[in-house]
Amino acid sequence: MGRKGEPFLLIEIGSSKISGVLGEIKDRDMIIHSSGFEPTTGISAGVVVSIDETKTSIKRLLRRLKVKGVKMPKSASVLITGSHLQNRPSKGITTIGENNHKERLISRKHVENALKQAKEIHLPKEEEIVSIFPSAYYVNDKPVKKPYNMMGVRLEVDAFVLTADTTHLGNIEIALLSSNIRAKEYLYQPIMASYGALINEDRDTGVILIDIGKDTTDIAVWEEGTLIFTKTLETGGQDITNDIAQVLHLRKSDAEKLKLQHGTCDTETVDKKSTIPIEVFDGDKKVVSKKELADIIRARVEDIFLEVRDELRKNHLFYADRKGNITTDIISIGVVLTGGTSLLPGIKEVGKEIFKLPCNIGSLRWKKVPQDMNTPSFASLWGAVEYKYEQLKNDPIGELDREGKFEMFIENIKDFFKTNI
Ligand SMILES: Nc1ncnc2c1ncn2[C@@H]1O[C@H](COP(=O)(O)OP(=O)(O)OP(=O)(O)O)[C@@H](O)[C@H]1O
Ligand SMILES: [Mg+2]
Repeated sequence: MGRKGEPFLLIEIGSSKISGVLGEIKDRDMIIHSSGFEPTTGISAGVVVSIDETKTSIKRLLRRLKVKGVKMPKSASVLITGSHLQNRPSKGITTIGENNHKERLISRKHVENALKQAKEIHLPKEEEIVSIFPSAYYVNDKPVKKPYNMMGVRLEVDAFVLTADTTHLGNIEIALLSSNIRAKEYLYQPIMASYGALINEDRDTGVILIDIGKDTTDIAVWEEGTLIFTKTLETGGQDITNDIAQVLHLRKSDAEKLKLQHGTCDTETVDKKSTIPIEVFDGDKKVVSKKELADIIRARVEDIFLEVRDELRKNHLFYADRKGNITTDIISIGVVLTGGTSLLPGIKEVGKEIFKLPCNIGSLRWKKVPQDMNTPSFASLWGAVEYKYEQLKNDPIGELDREGKFEMFIENIKDFFKTNI
């Protein structure tokens, strides 16, 4: 891999846009050749609703990513989200070897065996396993960061097994195949957004990442460097737009423009006398006060955060204290917001109020992002780049190299299971 270079392709299926990165691993470093995005109306809440439009958006994206002299890979790592995805916690154990020191050395095969066991879960008929994310390893009952090349007798793994609705996944595959791209692995967007916007120290301390996109809100909770919870809710920026359209009798496209140009959640400091001229559906001209617009937006943003908090409460990550206040012991650093909706002015103050925790807008960790993509909307896409880079750096003995290609051997489990089970 080192000398020749191995191009890789990342494609994110978002509800408002399909985005991608074409890169290459060369001499154990990562080069980004191109990146870009194409707006789409073919996807809703992470699910294909128009196969033709999705195909067209993917084709356009690939055209945009094409670089002279760089061979376009025939397979891609595909970032997905949607409420049909379930990220189920599971465990796997494998014994290493008990005789001599050499036999006790933990290899890639041992890790694969532990993960293989972790994925042995019972699934409803229409669901399939798409990936497995190891969240913690234990060697002889002691937590370790990376088990490779350590000595041990028993290896245990805590993992999240991501499952998807077979039909929804199949539609994404069909759309990709029309551009001759095979999905070689699937990556779950909230996990990737965490890599995109959270520094390791935040993940080590305890943090909740909330990615509010167009149709979905992704949640990922980290404690002591370990992923402990993920969820995708079907709510997002489009609900804010729909509220504006409904209350002010506007077309959705006009409501969206109004939100982007004048939207804020800050109902306190907004100029209460300031008005914006609008043209309603029948052509009548009206004015709307900035305060009224902010009230509509804030109400929905509060609802989104309350829905997130309820979900966390259901999963025992928040609880009501004696005085009835909703609180948490787990999330110590606070909340980091990503996704396009996190660009709404005043949103972090609303987050602070609802979660009673410090709240920040995530900025992208990857340093060389083109200007038009350097926003929290692209946290998961660039997070996948960061994730792959981290894996490469954490692979000092070159295990990944030995395959002759850059694939995340753990997460690239789909084919592995197909051939091994
Ligand atoms: N400056 C802004 N102010 C308010 N909202 C914004 C702003 N920029 C983008 N948005 C909203 O962000 C949403 C798109 O966010 P994002 O690009 O993260 O979505 P997505 O990843 O395509 O969708 P999903 O995550 O639901 O699949 C839209 O609802 C858009 O209106
Ligand atoms: Mg998104």
